[in-house]
Amino acid sequence: MRVLLTGANRGLGLEWVRQLAARGETVFATCRQPEKAEALQVLQRRFPDNVKVFPLDVRSQESIAQAVDAVAAHTDALDVLINNAGILFEHERITNLQAEHLEVSFQVNAIGPMMLAKQALPLLQRGKRPVVFNISTMLASLTLKTFSGYYSYSASKAALNMLTRTLAAELRPQEIIVVAVHPGWVRTEMGGPGAPLSPEVSVQGMLRLLDSLTMRHSGRFWTWEGQEHPW
Ligand SMILES: NC(=O)c1ccc[n+]([C@@H]2O[C@H](COP(=O)([O-])OP(=O)(O)OC[C@H]3O[C@@H](n4cnc5c(N)ncnc54)[C@H](OP(=O)(O)O)[C@@H]3O)[C@@H](O)[C@H]2O)c1
Repeated sequence: MRVLLTGANRGLGLEWVRQLAARGETVFATCRQPEKAEALQVLQRRFPDNVKVFPLDVRSQESIAQAVDAVAAHTDALDVLINNAGILFEHERITNLQAEHLEVSFQVNAIGPMMLAKQALPLLQRGKRPVVFNISTMLASLTLKTFSGYYSYSASKAALNMLTRTLAAELRPQEIIVVAVHPGWVRTEMGGPGAPLSPEVSVQGMLRLLDSLTMRHSGRFWTWEGQEHPW
C-alpha cells in the first residue's frame, strides 16, 4: 500500500507510521516540522525504503499543494489517505468560548482533510482499492453528544463527518472508499494518560478495519474495532 498520512510526528500518527512501515507498506509521513520530529526521524532511519517524510501544515492551502507535489514526485498513485492530524481545545464553556478556537479547529479538523483529499484525488484515482480514512471521534456523534464541553472539537469533527459522507457519495461511482473512524480513547497528548487504550492497540484495530474495507463500508462511521458508529 502507498499511504499518505498527516500528523505523523507523534501520537496515533507516529504509531501508524511504525505499524505500516513494519509491514512493508510505503508511508508518505507528513508533519508540520519534520526537522523537529525526532521519533519520526528514527523510524525513517529504521525503514529508509518505506518511510518518506514531507512537511505539511493542514491549515495552509499552499503547504497542502506543495506536499502533494512532493509525493507525486515519488509515486504516480496512492492507495490510502489517512487524515489523522487533529486539534482539541480543552475546558471550553460558553462563557470562555473563543471564535479563534472554533476557526482553527474547523481549519485543522475539517477543511484541511477535505482540501488534502481534493489535491490527492488524482493520485488516489490511480490507486488500488483507494481509501480516504478520516480520523473522527465519538465526540462528533450528534446521537451520543448529550454532554457539555468540546464545542470546537465536536463541531469541527461533526463537519468532517458530513464532508466524509458527501465525498463518499460523490466518489462512489469511481469506487473510492471514504470513511470516518473513531480511534477509541487513546493515551496520546490529546487523549491524556488516563485513556484506556494504547496507540499500538488502537492502530492495530484501525489497520484491521482498513484492510477489510469494501465499497459497502463507504460513507459510514466506524469504530477502531470495526463496529458501526452512530452519527
Ligand atoms: N487520543 C484520543 O483519545 C483520540 C480520540 C478520538 C479521536 N482522536 C483523533 O485522532 C487523531 C490523532 O490524535 P492524537 O491522539 O494522536 O493527538 P495528538 O497526540 O495531540 O497529535 C495530534 C497530531 O496532529 C498534528 N497537527 C495539529 N495541527 C496540525 C496542523 N495544522 N497541520 C498538521 N498537523 C497538525 C500534531 O502535530 P504538531 O506536533 O505539529 O502539533 C500531531 O501530530 C486526531 O484527529 C484526533 O482528533 C484521538
